[in-house]
Amino acid sequence: MDKRLAPFALRFRSVSVRLAIWYTLATAATLSCLFAAGYQLLERHLIHGLDLLTTAQFEQVKSHLHLEDDKLDPAALEERLRKVTDHAAVLFYIDVHSPGRGTIFQSTNIRGRVIPDVKGERFFNSHVEGIGDVRVGEFILGPIDVNVATPLRTVHNVMEGYAEVCLALFGTMLVASGVIGYCLSQLALRPIRKISETANRIRSDNLSERIEVSEVRDEVSDLAHMLNQMFDRLEFSFNNIRHFAAEVSHELKTPLSLLRLLGEKMLLDGTASAAHQESIQVQLEELARLDQIVEELLFLSRVEARGVHFQMVEANPARFLHAFAQDAKVLAEHHQVRFAYTHDGEGPVQFDDKRMRQVLLNLLSNALHISPAGSHVTLRSMLADGKWVLRVEDEGPGLPADKHEQMFERFVRHQPQESGYKGSGLGLAICRSIVGLHKGRIFATHGPNDRGLHVVIEIPALAA
Ligand SMILES: Nc1ncnc2c1ncn2[C@@H]1O[C@H](COP(=O)(O)OP(=O)(O)O)[C@@H](O)[C@H]1O
Ligand SMILES: [Mg+2]
Repeated sequence: MDKRLAPFALRFRSVSVRLAIWYTLATAATLSCLFAAGYQLLERHLIHGLDLLTTAQFEQVKSHLHLEDDKLDPAALEERLRKVTDHAAVLFYIDVHSPGRGTIFQSTNIRGRVIPDVKGERFFNSHVEGIGDVRVGEFILGPIDVNVATPLRTVHNVMEGYAEVCLALFGTMLVASGVIGYCLSQLALRPIRKISETANRIRSDNLSERIEVSEVRDEVSDLAHMLNQMFDRLEFSFNNIRHFAAEVSHELKTPLSLLRLLGEKMLLDGTASAAHQESIQVQLEELARLDQIVEELLFLSRVEARGVHFQMVEANPARFLHAFAQDAKVLAEHHQVRFAYTHDGEGPVQFDDKRMRQVLLNLLSNALHISPAGSHVTLRSMLADGKWVLRVEDEGPGLPADKHEQMFERFVRHQPQESGYKGSGLGLAICRSIVGLHKGRIFATHGPNDRGLHVVIEIPALAA
């Protein structure tokens, strides 16, 4: 949908905000109808009150008219009515006229003005110059009409007050309903949020975790149940694939060993010609590589199926690092690269030193293979803030940022063919599995000025 056309509320990515807006809009609509209906009812009620008043006033005027006696003599009317109308001058404007003779009597407060008539209406609103809006009651009494008008000012004042109060209430209620709507939607969406948190946590390495299903059967528990069934199926397929990979690797190992033995035997026999010997040598190298890939695949599928026993020992990593650095130095020298290592911080970390050595050797081997002769490879270790952070830094060509995550996937190799290095592309995937089982994480960044690659490992440390 075009973003510009999307309704205002739909543009928000948060359902809570959207629900709060809908709730506020619904409240606004309800309140508007309520206040408008209240306005109408109150106004009608007040006007009805005015009509009753004008009727009462007419009754009083009528009782003083005695029409049968004086045949509409203005002087007689003046004498009888003036007193009555002067008494009521604050509230009523009275006009007595007859169709044939025009005005016969007017209360003093009208001062010659005309009360406009609305044909066919007995009670109506009108406007008199100099007096303002009035409510008029027209009473027909034989040959004469008596108009009793009373100002609408009080009604207007009450209605204005009502509108002001409604407006203030409306604003307050809108803010309140927005807040209430947001809180309610947060409350209603809490189970959904819990579901998405758990679903987010479930990855290939903890596929057995499941979403908690509440006892109450509702739409949310149905959703959780459905997702759990989906995870069941996923786990089943994943396990199948893992078993398959493990079995295939396992099955391949024996014929591979046999082939290698045969090749080695042919070399030892010395019966093969020089050309044959060379091709047997190449075959043996390729077989060794294949053997390593199979070995790594087997290890990876075992780690993922939790089939590898990790000997987690609580130790200060300084000694482990020192031992590793000695071997690393020798390896680096072999590649004409300078190796250095630093370690800061004291405290215990729970780790399997054999597996962590495997990880570091993998990273070191990657760094050494790619580093130009004479460059530096540095291992920095720091134990602080409940974390053991290890960084393997090289000064090689590095990798573009979009490949930093991809390189940890299986069979991903970015080495150019001409580099001569033929890796399996499984090393970093193995590193990630091992670090994951230490409840840590491993990722890559680039070095200063985009030079080189830094691979960082973070493992939670125990409280000192
Ligand atoms: N230090 C590094 N600098 C640049 N690229 C690297 C580095 N380490 C790993 N890589 C890239 O990541 C890919 C995957 O590494 P890895 O999983 O160890 O497989 P392999 O070493 O068998 O190729 C490598 O092929 C390489 O292209
Ligand atoms: Mg490697």
